[in-house]
Amino acid sequence: MSIGSNIEQAAAYLQEGRVIGIPTETVYGLAGNALRTEIVTKIFEIKNRPSFDPLIVHCPSRESVSHYVTEVPQWANDLMKAFSPGPLTFLLPRKTIIPDLVTSGLDRVAIRIPAHPVAAELLSLLDFPLAAPSANPFGYISPTSAFHVEAQLGNLIPYILDGGHCTIGLESTIIGEENRKLIVYRAGGLSIEEIEKITGPVEIREGSSSPQAPGMLKSHYAPRKKFILGNLKELTEQYSGKNYSVLSFEDSYPGKHNKILSPEGDLFEAAHNLFSYMRMLDESDSEFILAEKVPDKGLGVAINDRLNRASSK
Ligand code: TXA
Ligand code: MG
Repeated sequence: MSIGSNIEQAAAYLQEGRVIGIPTETVYGLAGNALRTEIVTKIFEIKNRPSFDPLIVHCPSRESVSHYVTEVPQWANDLMKAFSPGPLTFLLPRKTIIPDLVTSGLDRVAIRIPAHPVAAELLSLLDFPLAAPSANPFGYISPTSAFHVEAQLGNLIPYILDGGHCTIGLESTIIGEENRKLIVYRAGGLSIEEIEKITGPVEIREGSSSPQAPGMLKSHYAPRKKFILGNLKELTEQYSGKNYSVLSFEDSYPGKHNKILSPEGDLFEAAHNLFSYMRMLDESDSEFILAEKVPDKGLGVAINDRLNRASSK
């Protein structure tokens, strides 16, 4: 296995039918040819992911999307014009060129056009789209650097294309339509407020484990250590003298290790730091982690969703 920034080499591996790590602006992906069932099977195996949890198909451009879906409805077209390439994933009716395994047999396929320049260039070199879940073992924190991918999947893949730290740091927001209503199935790197500026009010389907978004099982994104979410002033008093570390939003607290998501109180910065700080604390020598929620607006909604999932073991 090697880590490198050679986009042609990455493209060559993918053309050979291999599965590799790739950067996106949200999180790193574990990518392979989305049009070949045997390659998609490998992705599920490497990730140890149950086959009922479908994958996102990454496309190079808005124009290319029509090869894979039977229709791009007006709402999706409007949102694509505003936010694609970017951290927004669309559930759209799939064409049969998309293998059953990619969608776990569902009628809709999840489509995203990533904005990361390295991912965009890679996709432009290929004549197929890339199926890519986040490049973490199923159930663990998503990777936001090539080293995170190497640490957990390095011995299972030939190459990790290094695109630096993910600028956004949270997975994409997932949107789709049911009975003429727009539904956000996963809060993510594009805030609901931004979406609603284009579409008007949307419904947010939270913490569901419905077959519509089976990946949203409640115990997703969990660190291995016990992760306790609450009021940090109270928690640090309650556990005083114990071996804990602290993940706080903007203030500093006593603890063996204290990672502050954004000393300035900036939600973009907090999102960018969230997963790497969760990993650091999970790998530190403290026994458990105390954490607090961030303001519930903008990217804070997605950050709080991940914090909740981390704590629900
Ligand atoms: O930002 C992202 O979305 C990253 C980067 C690599 O693009 N990808 C990512 O993939 O987070 P993954 O596999 O970790 O999460 C994809 C989510 C899962 O919860 C899955 O259930 C849902 O998307 N999903 C995919 N296809 C779907 C479909 N056809 N219908 C409903 N949900 C779907
Ligand atoms: Mg994931």
